Amino acid sequence: MLKQLLRKTGKFFYLARGIKTAFRETFIPSKRPTFDGWYGLKTYSQPPWVGHKIGDLSLESRFYKVDCKLREKMSNKSFTLLRADLIKTIDLMDSLMWRNYIVFWSFVFAAKSTKSEVKNYIEAGVADGISAFYAINAAESYNYEYKAYFYDAWGEVEMNNPSTRGKELGYEGLDLEIVKNNLSDFQDNIVFIKGKIPETLNRENEPESVVWLSIDLNSEQPTIDCLEYYWGRVEIGGVVLLDDYAQPAYIDTKNAVDNWLLKQKNALLLHLPTTQAIIIKIT
Ligand SMILES: C[S@@+](CC[C@H](N)C(=O)[O-])C[C@H]1O[C@@H](n2cnc3c(N)ncnc32)[C@H](O)[C@@H]1O
Repeated sequence: MLKQLLRKTGKFFYLARGIKTAFRETFIPSKRPTFDGWYGLKTYSQPPWVGHKIGDLSLESRFYKVDCKLREKMSNKSFTLLRADLIKTIDLMDSLMWRNYIVFWSFVFAAKSTKSEVKNYIEAGVADGISAFYAINAAESYNYEYKAYFYDAWGEVEMNNPSTRGKELGYEGLDLEIVKNNLSDFQDNIVFIKGKIPETLNRENEPESVVWLSIDLNSEQPTIDCLEYYWGRVEIGGVVLLDDYAQPAYIDTKNAVDNWLLKQKNALLLHLPTTQAIIIKIT
């Protein structure tokens, strides 16, 4: 009886609190979140891309410029998404901004903290090229010499997340020609490796060393395959960026990465609130 009453009043409390928050955020501008993004990430703190002087040489200002450039390309259709309508795309870009900032930042960090002259890097899971655009433009913005190696099936692929979604087919509509067109300004610096991982991890067209390894495959085993295959070639100071690390649907990936990490002496992982994680090679 008492339990039932508490449960009822508890529900009422959360409902009342939800209504109050919605009211405040709608009608009092100063109480609105400064960022309300993908995977429920909502924050009232000032995002890094706000408050800098436009055109200054800060990383944040450079990121913001790249973000504007991509939105402009999307609106004039020189960068297209398979699943696009413009309003949804603008919403998508707003909601991805924190993630894209981390793509940009982690690339710059990796490039600055490694010794190589040419910044070779890998992106596994490229799709239409959104994250690729930020990393390439990070390299361009800081005038690094670089070569990007892009892996994707660009065609139907089976993903497997055994304890959550199981096996599922997806991405059948993706097209290598679309991403080539989206990134055509940088074509001389890109090697596209089309096909399924791990079959494409075959020592053909691969760099000897890499500064940044970004993995966004939504599937446990190929994530670990990439990590194991390339970790030895990540330079000291280099970074692995994991997109799917803390999404509950990809918990198998997190568990597998955590197990892998226990065996490494030279890797430090930073778990981020965006669901991403970065691993830094420290020695
Ligand atoms: C979430 S999307 C990548 C999104 C991309 N990083 C972006 O910013 O738009 C995941 C990608 O992983 C690719 N993928 C999944 N499993 C793969 C595998 N075993 N081999 C190659 N590509 C795979 C899919 O084709 C898809 O393009």
